[in-house]
Amino acid sequence: MLKTFAQWIASTDLSEMLKVYSWIIPASQAVHIIALAILLVSALLICLNLSSVQHAKGSLANLIGNQVKVIWICMIVLLFTGMVQIIAEPARQFLSSAFQIKVLLLLLILPLTYLLANRVKNKPSSLEIIDDRPSWLRVSCLAYISTWIAIIICGRFIGYT
Ligand code: HEM
Repeated sequence: MLKTFAQWIASTDLSEMLKVYSWIIPASQAVHIIALAILLVSALLICLNLSSVQHAKGSLANLIGNQVKVIWICMIVLLFTGMVQIIAEPARQFLSSAFQIKVLLLLLILPLTYLLANRVKNKPSSLEIIDDRPSWLRVSCLAYISTWIAIIICGRFIGYT
């Protein structure tokens, strides 16, 4: 079914056009990479601040709120540039197991990011006054950042699986 869908996308005028203008794919890949680098910095900032630094009242919620906004903006850019690449070479993407794992990991991490932002927004002072961060929080941060890194690795492996 995925193969038929990929063949149908490849036969559309838009896909043909993307193949004719050969600069579009490398340009969209470059933007994809810049956006994912910015996203990773934001995810790292969230995790480092959440797991190791003590904060004045209100500042942690502000920091996380701002960084989550950056993550959403990067996701819009990644979605757009990713779609350009999918439309240009649908079979390369849909039939790759790395692409499928990447999508599954994205479906896992995006609701988690939303929940984190909501939790910090609704209970802004819950973590700021703790001197010692609980170990579950550090483990969760490690798992969160590892998932983003796994998504990057899957992205890089798409052409090879
Ligand atoms: C909805 C969001 C996304 C879509 C639809 C998407 C789709 C794609 C596609 C189609 C490619 C081209 C793969 C190839 O042909 O080799 C790609 C590459 C890549 N993606 Fe994404 N992606 C998305 C989000 C992300 C995110 C969130 C990350 C990481 C945080 C990411 C990391 C990468 C990496 C590292 C590459 C390889 C770039 C390269 O080597 O040129 N992507 N993505």
